[in-house]
Amino acid sequence: MFAATFVQAARDYEPSDAIRYLQASALNLPFASESFDFVTAFMSLMDVAGPETVLPEVARVLKPGGFLQFSILHPCFSPLHRRLVRDESGRPVAIEVARYFDRVNGEIERWIFNAAPPEAKAGLDPFQTPRFHRTLADWLNALTDSGLSVERCVEPTADEETAARVRGLDDTRIAPNFILFRCRRLPTSKMPSPRS
Ligand SMILES: C[S@@+](CC[C@H](N)C(=O)[O-])C[C@H]1O[C@@H](n2cnc3c(N)ncnc32)[C@H](O)[C@@H]1O
Repeated sequence: MFAATFVQAARDYEPSDAIRYLQASALNLPFASESFDFVTAFMSLMDVAGPETVLPEVARVLKPGGFLQFSILHPCFSPLHRRLVRDESGRPVAIEVARYFDRVNGEIERWIFNAAPPEAKAGLDPFQTPRFHRTLADWLNALTDSGLSVERCVEPTADEETAARVRGLDDTRIAPNFILFRCRRLPTSKMPSPRS
């Protein structure tokens, strides 16, 4: 189910005749081919059913030379199991990672923001998110197969001062939680033919 609440929140935050808010599946975008200079997706493509299906759909609506910028959970360091290991003093020392090669389709994960204040979490049921985990190679191959060439990657880490101040960010000094990609759509003559 696509979260209509996010669209409503955006409308309420920035009501404007210049912005057209739409609710639709990222797997079947209601736009003509080659209509956008830029597409962005913030922490969502890893939750879309079939990352290898959504990237060709993004490439379809991008103009040749247009770009896609997106962030996802880091496939290597936030696969289906990530646990922060602390020493006796509470200092983070390692990230335990498992199930990297489990390419699940809709496995339900239950979680709640660690860093949220207890009063914000009180009485709140954990979120339930269907996961569609893929390996890093799967993501890079899906981008290439879609005619999207990677230009830049970022693996965010908190600086030392922020990590010391904000407990929920100290694990990013060991290994990133997220990865960001900027990719450019190839010219039409160089686009790969769709896979059968
Ligand atoms: C982790 S949430 C991120 C939402 C928001 N970008 C944020 O950062 O708060 C993932 C979002 O992906 C949406 N989603 C999953 N599959 C989708 C699809 N096929 N089309 C559009 N949105 C989808 C879900 O509804 C959910 O709102």
